[in-house]
Amino acid sequence: MVYQKTTLPDASSTTSAPAALPLENWSSPLNGGMPIHFGDGAAEELVGILRGLAPDRVFVVSDPHVFDLYGAFLVQLLGPSFAPEVVLIPEGENEKKLANLEALCTELFDRGATRSSVVVNFGGGVVLNLGGLAAGLVYRGIRFVHVPTTLMAQSDVIVSNKQGINFGGGKNRLGLFATPVAALCDPRFYASESKRQLRAALVEYAKNAILLGGAHYDNAFAAFRTPDILGAESLRKILRYSLEQKFEIAKLDPTERGYGLVLEYGHTVGHAAEYLSQGRLLHGEAVYHGMMVAGRIANMMGILPDAEYAKQRALLALIEHIPAIPADISVGQILQSAQRDNKKRDKNLSFILMDAVGKPHQVQGPRGSAATSVLTPVPEEALRAALTEYRDALL
Ligand SMILES: NC(=O)c1ccc[n+]([C@@H]2O[C@H](COP(=O)([O-])OP(=O)(O)OC[C@H]3O[C@@H](n4cnc5c(N)ncnc54)[C@H](O)[C@@H]3O)[C@@H](O)[C@H]2O)c1
Repeated sequence: MVYQKTTLPDASSTTSAPAALPLENWSSPLNGGMPIHFGDGAAEELVGILRGLAPDRVFVVSDPHVFDLYGAFLVQLLGPSFAPEVVLIPEGENEKKLANLEALCTELFDRGATRSSVVVNFGGGVVLNLGGLAAGLVYRGIRFVHVPTTLMAQSDVIVSNKQGINFGGGKNRLGLFATPVAALCDPRFYASESKRQLRAALVEYAKNAILLGGAHYDNAFAAFRTPDILGAESLRKILRYSLEQKFEIAKLDPTERGYGLVLEYGHTVGHAAEYLSQGRLLHGEAVYHGMMVAGRIANMMGILPDAEYAKQRALLALIEHIPAIPADISVGQILQSAQRDNKKRDKNLSFILMDAVGKPHQVQGPRGSAATSVLTPVPEEALRAALTEYRDALL
C-alpha cells in the first residue's frame, strides 16, 4: 500500500480564506458525557486519549480509501508506543453488511483482541457504524474511539451512539447503542472530500434546522447562501452549528424511542431510496428526497400549510446538484422497501411530519395512552401519490 500523507492539510491549503477552527472539548449531554473534541488538531488528541485508556492492543478499523489517504498519518501518530493493528473493511454503503461484521470480529479475535483492547474507528459513517457495532459486540463490548473523517460522520453520525449495519433488505436493521470513549472531529479531513460528499452532508444540517426552526433555520439559510459554502471556513462553522443543533434534539431522548425520532425526518423514503440505489445515492442525497416527499405528504394531508411547505423547500433548494432518485427505482420498490423501515408500527407506515418549520407534528400515542407520539401513521396511498408526483416533477 502506498501511503501519501503523513500530516493533515491545514485549513489554508483548501481555501483562499484560511480559518482554522480552534480545538474545543465538549462533553456530550447523552449517555455519560462522552468527550467530543472538535477543531483543527482534534485527530492528534487520540494519543493522549489512548494513553489514558492504557490498552493492551490498539486496533485501527478503516477502509482502503481512507487508509490510502491518511493511514501514514495515523500510523506515524500512534507510533511504536501503540503499534496499532490495522484492519481494513471494504469501502462503501454496500459493504455495511453482516458478512463484513463477521469478518471484522474474526480479525479482532484472531489478532488477539482482549477486553483491555481499544478499537479506533477511522473513516466515514460506514466505518464508524460497522466498527462501532463490532466493538459493541466483542466480549459484550470493548472500548472504542471514533475518529470520523467525513463531514457527515463528524456532524451527524457521532452524536447518536447508534452503531449498526444494513440487513434483510433494509438500512440499519441490526445494531445497538454503544457509546465511544471519545469522538475526535478534525475538519482538516474535509480537504480530500468531493464537493458532492460535502453537499450531501449539508442535508442533515438542513434537516435539523427544519426541525428546530427559528434562529437555526435562519442560520442555515444564511450559511447556504454564502458563495463559498464548501470552503474550509464555512464548513468549520457548519460543523459547530451542526453539533449544537443535533445535541439540542438528541439530549431530549438519547435512545430515540420517543421525541428523538424526529431526527429520522426524511429517513423513511430516504433510507429506502438509499438502500435501493446500491450506493448511487449518498445518504444525505437520499434524505433530501425523503424530506421533499415527507413535506408533500404532510401538505397533502393538510398538516403542513403551503407557506411552511414552501419555507422548507426554499432551504433545501439552496443545496445544489442533488442527483435525482435513479430512474430505474420504481415507486413500487420504494413503497415495498419503506415497509421495512424501523419506524413502522403495526401495519402502518409511520412518518415524521411537520406542522411547520420548527414544529414536528404530534399525534395521540398508541391505544389511548395519554402520551403523544411524533410518528404519524401514513396510508400507503398517500405515500404513493406524493412519491409519484415528486418523481414526475423531476422527470
Ligand atoms: N446516527 C448514525 O449512526 C448515522 C447518522 C447519519 C449517517 N449514518 C450512516 O453513515 C453512512 C454515511 O456516512 P458517510 O457519508 O461518511 O459515508 P461513507 O462512510 O460511505 O464514506 C463515503 C466515502 O468517502 C470516503 N472517505 C471517508 N473519509 C474521506 C475523506 N476525508 N476524504 C475523501 N474520502 C473520504 C470513504 O472511503 C467512502 O468511499 C451511511 O451508512 C449512513 O446510514 C449513520
